[in-house]
Amino acid sequence: MAKIILVASGKGGAGKSTVSALLGEAFAFRKSPVLLMELDSGLRSLDVALGVTENIVFDMGDIIRGSCEIKDAVINCPFCPNLSLIAAAAKPIMVTDEIIRKIDRELGNYYEFIILDCPAGIGPELEEAAKCADLGLVVATPDPSSIRGARAAGILLQNSGVKERRLVIERCPQKAKKLSPLKNLDEIIDGSELQLIGVIWEDPDTRDAMDSGEPLDDTGVNFETFRDLSERIRGKNIPLGFK
Ligand SMILES: Nc1ncnc2c1ncn2[C@@H]1O[C@H](COP(=O)(O)OP(=O)(O)O)[C@@H](O)[C@H]1O
Ligand SMILES: [Mg+2]
Repeated sequence: MAKIILVASGKGGAGKSTVSALLGEAFAFRKSPVLLMELDSGLRSLDVALGVTENIVFDMGDIIRGSCEIKDAVINCPFCPNLSLIAAAAKPIMVTDEIIRKIDRELGNYYEFIILDCPAGIGPELEEAAKCADLGLVVATPDPSSIRGARAAGILLQNSGVKERRLVIERCPQKAKKLSPLKNLDEIIDGSELQLIGVIWEDPDTRDAMDSGEPLDDTGVNFETFRDLSERIRGKNIPLGFK
């Protein structure tokens, strides 16, 4: 069985899909096979990030309706051989924990990680995904409402039995690097009541990578950031330092 990592946020637009895609790439570039599942029915975006929009024949909706074999809905990323995607359903539909478990039973032996890119908020979709997640990553930008949302999402994950829960701060201004960043981030960590596992910088190249369907440039500011995040999730002790 694969390790199931759920990516959630209280507020929309925090960076869940960005974290899901680029964390998936970071694992996959280091030879760990990853299956991404976008659970945000009706609001696809990971197909764009992976450059596979034209390759979608079946999606999560077809799996739920039983109109395709699970394996037929798996799309391989053209630029990252160990990375695959099940695209979100085109129209809103509930992805239950039974469906996620069924996919894991059928395909989990081929993947080291399954990453669930969840819809924003603390609704029933997140509760379903939480029932089968081994690790919950809660994504928040540094603004107060996003942090408040992260706290709510963290509580939902805790109440749903997700044992490991961590905070990823997204879109952190790069000027924070120069200003004693840990001190500035303290407030966010306190507000979210979650343990910090990664800080992703606000960076136009990161946005472009998501919009263009191309990999993150290995000279870019967030390449190392995602590599370190992936290594921390594997259990390596990589300090949250800033250079
Ligand atoms: N680190 C970043 N730097 C710059 N733009 C980012 C970064 N992370 C996300 N974005 C942009 O923010 C927007 C929302 O991100 P997205 O990952 O789609 O959020 P969500 O999936 O939580 O709704 C997108 O336009 C994305 O390209
Ligand atoms: Mg998204």
